[in-house]
Amino acid sequence: MSMPKVTVVGAGQVGATAAFLMALKGLADIVLVDVAEGIPQGKALDMMHARSIEAFGATVTGTNEYGPTADSDVVVVTAGLPRKPGMTREDLLAANGAIVRSVMAEVSSVSPEAIVILVTNPLDVMAHLAWRVSGFPASRVMGMGGVLDSARFAYFIAQATGAPVSEIAAVVIGAHGDTMVPLPRFSTVRGEPLSEMLPADEVAEVVRRTVHGGAEVVSLLKSGSAFYAPGASVARMVTAILGDTREVLPSCVLLDGQYGLSGLHLNVPAAIGRAGVLDVPEWPLDDAELAALRASAAGVAETLATLDLEV
Ligand code: APR
Repeated sequence: MSMPKVTVVGAGQVGATAAFLMALKGLADIVLVDVAEGIPQGKALDMMHARSIEAFGATVTGTNEYGPTADSDVVVVTAGLPRKPGMTREDLLAANGAIVRSVMAEVSSVSPEAIVILVTNPLDVMAHLAWRVSGFPASRVMGMGGVLDSARFAYFIAQATGAPVSEIAAVVIGAHGDTMVPLPRFSTVRGEPLSEMLPADEVAEVVRRTVHGGAEVVSLLKSGSAFYAPGASVARMVTAILGDTREVLPSCVLLDGQYGLSGLHLNVPAAIGRAGVLDVPEWPLDDAELAALRASAAGVAETLATLDLEV
């Protein structure tokens, strides 16, 4: 059986990290594409130099053209500008919107059957824009936000409880931004809900650190934003797709009536497999959780309304 092919658009911090992790895991042959001359080629060559040490069979190729990306099974879009300290993800809207448009025009023409994972911020808005301009079915265009936010939540739960992360299942839904909705009732340590394990003020502090997890990294780095956990989150989603695991991962998907929401992309639990988004089951949220999710959706809808979504 031939190796699947995954293209990573944007060979920057997140793209290159995701590419290297996917190569190490032997998930697919990887093509890195970027507008910056030499960067994707140089990083691909550097990764290939590690091949004999890590003994991975995957190839990594770098290019400035879309020809070598043709017929990709999965395309990960990280092209864009990252946040600088003090910037919100929304500040990136105009610049990254133009980039996502141009990238999707190329992707849909050379890889018309691909599953697309958006990473570029503001994530929920960029995923929706990418879907609209691609002409792809909604099942084939999703965003990576919920997996990352949930991983950060799991880390902070581990810190607060002393439990190993391997015993923690954490879920964050909503926009990949300050209005995200960590779900302590649905997040468990050895099967026990966080909301029953810790007093409310400690849960609130874990939630607060989760919501600001990305910004904390940005303020420490001073230039650029997080990339190791985002890269790992991308690899996680690609594993589910190529392995057709059909597992439920918090993913940024088109809502079509679930939670009373439609016409926008938002992170919610979704079953992911080889055909992309297979199912978006509606979880039994309580009134407060639902209100928080709807408030988060309202923010995304407001931003979407400022964006030209015409094809
Ligand atoms: N086509 C391809 N690549 C592009 C394009 C384009 N039109 N425009 C920019 N790029 C490339 C840049 O040349 C750069 O190599 O995208 C890459 C982005 O890399 P970084 O600047 O290192 O940004 P990174 O930290 O990887 O973040 C990328 O992911 O998490 C989000 O907010 C983040 O939107 C940002 C994106």
